[in-house]
Amino acid sequence: MRVFVAGASGAVGTRLVAQLIDRGHEVIGTFRSPGHGERVGALGATPVALDLLDPRAVREAVLAAAPDAIVHQATALADLRDFKHFDRSFAQTNRLRTEGTDALLAAAAAAGVDRFLAQSYASALYARTGGFVKTEDDPLDPAPVPAMRETLAAMRHLDEAVTGAGGITLRYGGFYGAANDGLIAPVRKRLFPIVGGGGGVSSFIHLDDAAAATVLALERGRPGSYNVVDDEPAAVREWLPVLAEALGAKPPRRVPRWLARLVAGEAAVMMGTASRGASNAKAKRELGWTLRHPSWRTGFFAAYAPLRAPAGPEPRPAALPS
Ligand SMILES: NC(=O)c1ccc[n+]([C@@H]2O[C@H](COP(=O)([O-])OP(=O)(O)OC[C@H]3O[C@@H](n4cnc5c(N)ncnc54)[C@H](OP(=O)(O)O)[C@@H]3O)[C@@H](O)[C@H]2O)c1
Repeated sequence: MRVFVAGASGAVGTRLVAQLIDRGHEVIGTFRSPGHGERVGALGATPVALDLLDPRAVREAVLAAAPDAIVHQATALADLRDFKHFDRSFAQTNRLRTEGTDALLAAAAAAGVDRFLAQSYASALYARTGGFVKTEDDPLDPAPVPAMRETLAAMRHLDEAVTGAGGITLRYGGFYGAANDGLIAPVRKRLFPIVGGGGGVSSFIHLDDAAAATVLALERGRPGSYNVVDDEPAAVREWLPVLAEALGAKPPRRVPRWLARLVAGEAAVMMGTASRGASNAKAKRELGWTLRHPSWRTGFFAAYAPLRAPAGPEPRPAALPS
């Protein structure tokens, strides 16, 4: 297939391009930041500079590429720090998920492209009632915390627009597997605490597994949504100490809800205490997807072993008994 990947230079985009090319697909990959075209070209794709917020440019780029399929992986989440003002931090990503999605869908219609996939996010998407592990049929959060309203509305828009047009949304877990993963610095500095009882549930996914599921969804997915998460949704109080250990950091602090609300805001309290995880049963069943990293429990150690501070000198072996 000839595949147009919007956001080919990003964390998941780069891995996706590499895997698509390995599978024999031809890739036109877009980038935004100067210099990132080389990254896309080095992977074997044809790089195209594109601002997804310029609908005319999007239409021209898609018509020129004449693809069989479009995959929307564009976000603006590098250097994300301020979770207290959640919607403000996500504002550009929200535009990419609304205006960017609409521009790509319009271009797809103009170019006669009927295969369309887009990136969404599983943790934080689902209603915070009932079970802690959600399937694709469960309702999206109807009443997001105020700090996340615009972000949830943008994800809902993306979901409805893409599936309404016969496309596929990929509701990924929290990405890990790269040296610049967002959780590394705060966990190392002990700035990511367990809030209250730490009962909020998260789902994770290694970037390589996320890319693999995306290739399969492109090749054989049915219109609708897929949770692209690992096998083990888990409460923060379970996974955070393991992540700290995998990074060679001290164990996380514990803080009461009121203090977390004051310092980090209501979105952080929600994610730490009430968010839901997701089930990958549908993606495994329908896509024939097998994970290289079925759980964060071992995945964190595999991913972060190269980042751990080198151990001191090897202890001298004890003298062998003669
Ligand atoms: N599910 C998750 O947990 C999740 C989801 C997304 C991101 N993240 C994390 O957030 C961090 C940053 O993600 P990232 O490395 O993928 O970078 P990013 O800054 O979020 O960019 C992603 C892609 O979108 C492109 N892009 C940005 N603005 C655009 C625009 N206006 N028009 C067209 N394309 C645009 C970028 O192009 P350029 O590279 O050229 O700027 C890049 O290809 C990573 O640690 C990642 O793991 C996590």
